[in-house]
Amino acid sequence: MLLDKPKINQKIPEELWKFKEEFNISFLDIFIVNGNKIYALEDCSQKETNICRPINGLINSNLIHIACSHGKVTYHIVDGKNTFPFLNENLMIEICIPIRGEKYSNIDVCVYFGLTNKEVDVKNLLSSFLRRFNLAEIYLYAFLMYCKLIKLRNFLNVFVTLEDMIKVNFPSLQLHLFNVAFWAVEIAKKLNFTNKEQEKLYLAGILHDVGKIKIRSEIINKKGSLTNEEYEEVKRHVEFGYVIAKEIIGDIYPDIPVWVKNHHEMYDGSGYPEGLKGEEIPLPSRILKVADVIDVLYSPRSYKTPVPVEKIVAELNRCKGKDFDPKVADIAIEVIKEKVVLPTDILRVSERRIFPAMLLLHFGEGKEVCCLNGYFYFDGTRGYFKLIEIVTNKLDLRNSVSAHLVIEVLSSIYEYNVHAIPLDETTWLISKIRTVEKNSCVCMLWNLEAFIITQEGRISVNIRKLSEEDLLFECNSMCEFDTSQLYKMEVLFENGEELILNGRIVCNYPVTKESSYYKYAFVMVSDTTKERLFKQIFRKHIDLKKRIEEVCTSR
Ligand SMILES: [Fe+2]
Ligand SMILES: [Fe+2]
Repeated sequence: MLLDKPKINQKIPEELWKFKEEFNISFLDIFIVNGNKIYALEDCSQKETNICRPINGLINSNLIHIACSHGKVTYHIVDGKNTFPFLNENLMIEICIPIRGEKYSNIDVCVYFGLTNKEVDVKNLLSSFLRRFNLAEIYLYAFLMYCKLIKLRNFLNVFVTLEDMIKVNFPSLQLHLFNVAFWAVEIAKKLNFTNKEQEKLYLAGILHDVGKIKIRSEIINKKGSLTNEEYEEVKRHVEFGYVIAKEIIGDIYPDIPVWVKNHHEMYDGSGYPEGLKGEEIPLPSRILKVADVIDVLYSPRSYKTPVPVEKIVAELNRCKGKDFDPKVADIAIEVIKEKVVLPTDILRVSERRIFPAMLLLHFGEGKEVCCLNGYFYFDGTRGYFKLIEIVTNKLDLRNSVSAHLVIEVLSSIYEYNVHAIPLDETTWLISKIRTVEKNSCVCMLWNLEAFIITQEGRISVNIRKLSEEDLLFECNSMCEFDTSQLYKMEVLFENGEELILNGRIVCNYPVTKESSYYKYAFVMVSDTTKERLFKQIFRKHIDLKKRIEEVCTSR
């Protein structure tokens, strides 16, 4: 079954209802089959909104499984020889039309008819159904209902709502939440948390400081030290976080709000809000505590550069047993040592994750590229992109010819070629995710400063990623670059070597309100210059790795 041009047809329930009336069908249902689990769209032929519900033991009929696994229309007529139990004892004919979902997922959908009249012309009914309905549309419709059931899209909506509150008042908080979640899960993996437990911890990480949205923004964003009163106010974020987390996901995961509440408890009992001690503090909260400190030190901020890895390791060692659970701190040190070099493909994870992301839609050669900011939810094979900013340009987003997904994790950028199908105004189904091949592409482990030379002066930028053909730099979003102009970039190394790279700015990826990433394509940069550039980078990479290893092994 091919689903070439999927569109969501909101009229499907209504049309099914008409069809049911016309052919005098007693039961018309859509079943969603995921492995051995079957879900039914309740009253799918009614005009009201549908609810998807799991079916347990109700369907003894193997018809659905037979239909779905063989991909063939199957039906039974009561004729005395039949051994299959029917859905309802008054039924005379049972028909299943399977719709295979291989293009999107392993989920199958099946349209089910139950008739009480034995005299119905089955062949005529089936051909009328197939003439009237587009199976691809029914599949997509059922699939979306299923997503609603597993709360996937609702969950994304929650983050988009939070994002609205966070980005206005606390721009620095957004990435902090995701980074803490990232570090926490990396630590949890080494503590043998199951996939499900890792997912829960990730969510707790994203929510850990969410209570700060209730604290006055001038205190949260204050650059200098806090007065005692201000500090007391900041401390209240754990209680607010508890309340907010409980509201958002308390019914699905009752322990997450508790973990959020306890993320500032100290191992020696000197923390807040309850002064819990040692093992009294839930393990996930002890992990969040360490992850929190790692991100505060590791991440660049407008007022500070990242603290070197060896200093973070020293800090964790200094405070273990006091602030931190010693076992968690030791594992965190191992994690930092390994994760300073991030994996080349961040989506090679088995657990569900949400990432801040950008979706770039291309509308054909030489045409405008549309850049959408939002979140990407990934379940291990496919994902959903949810928009956070309303798009005001005139492009019809449904007409894109190809798409790129850009994800940011710990200041590293990951780029993927994807298949993006709009599901509604703000959500895209993302499938066929393939890493964008970049030969000899290097992510910076430290700040490599450079200057773009313009007629007005020199603009300071930070190089983040480097390949043979181009580089990616970060810069204040206020900077305006002309994409048609040729620029000169000056790179200065610690040993005094200076390099000039000619190039063009070809792409802009806004990251936050304050900063943007720009792709800088080299123009007439000689091989010797490139060689000198890479030599410098690799020398420093090797130095840094050595230093980290020395610190870690000397303990
Ligand atoms: Fe906090
Ligand atoms: Fe935090």
